[in-house]
Amino acid sequence: MNAPLLRVDRASREFGSGRTLVRAVADVSFATERGEVTLIMGPSGSGKTTLLSMIGGILRPTSGRVVIDELDITSLRRRELPRVRRELVGFVFQTFNLLESLSALENVEIALNIAGVTGFAAEERAHALLREAGLEQRLHFNAQALSAGERQRVALARALANEPRLLLADEPTANLDSDAGHDVMALLRGLTESKGHAAVVVSHDPRLREVADRVLWLADGRLTSAEPESRVRPSASVGSPTPTTLPTLVLGP
Ligand SMILES: Nc1ncnc2c1ncn2[C@@H]1O[C@H](COP(=O)(O)OP(=O)(O)O)[C@@H](O)[C@H]1O
Ligand SMILES: [Mg+2]
Repeated sequence: MNAPLLRVDRASREFGSGRTLVRAVADVSFATERGEVTLIMGPSGSGKTTLLSMIGGILRPTSGRVVIDELDITSLRRRELPRVRRELVGFVFQTFNLLESLSALENVEIALNIAGVTGFAAEERAHALLREAGLEQRLHFNAQALSAGERQRVALARALANEPRLLLADEPTANLDSDAGHDVMALLRGLTESKGHAAVVVSHDPRLREVADRVLWLADGRLTSAEPESRVRPSASVGSPTPTTLPTLVLGP
């Protein structure tokens, strides 16, 4: 039996001290496997971004561990963390965070350049990723000329440029209309299966449930339900009668 790709073990994060102490994430444990999309839902302020930041090596837990592909990133020195962020994880943000005056292709190439892939190799790989993201016709458009949904698909291609083990997305559909949000999530779902990384998506958007293998609930920094029974199949998700163009999903063991 392989070890899980990601293991979060009793991770907690506090901010401040004394009267201003905030326990943003409290004693969170869960694990995810390759090819799996885990959705963590919770209201604003429930600790979603804090948790995702700890998983991605941006923020250190006050206590507990984050283990990615058997590497305990919480045991690393601070100066080793940039390498984790560059090589093990890919991030997608609510606001896309593209370089607006660069083309779609250049936005993806830059991520490759930073990791040491340059020239034709970088261009070829960026091109292939954008093709997979359905943006073959948009390669040379500046980011600012793209629709919000297209920008987020570029951001997804960029996040996957260096073949991360883990894709982390923070409210990836919050700035998208319903159709674009659906397309981005269907793409994230498909790429996670085909490339075999694991994806952790945090959001308060219930529409995302239909592409998740598993939904965990966060309230006041605590997971309120992480049981195997909380695995959902898209076909079984309630309250989503909208016609979808999702590929047929084959989930779970
Ligand atoms: N840098 C920080 N300093 C102090 N408090 C913080 C900081 N970051 C987050 N918090 C607090 O931690 C809690 C969880 O925040 P966050 O993880 O951003 O929640 P979410 O992403 O679910 O909206 C909130 O009460 C927030 O105010
Ligand atoms: Mg947040």
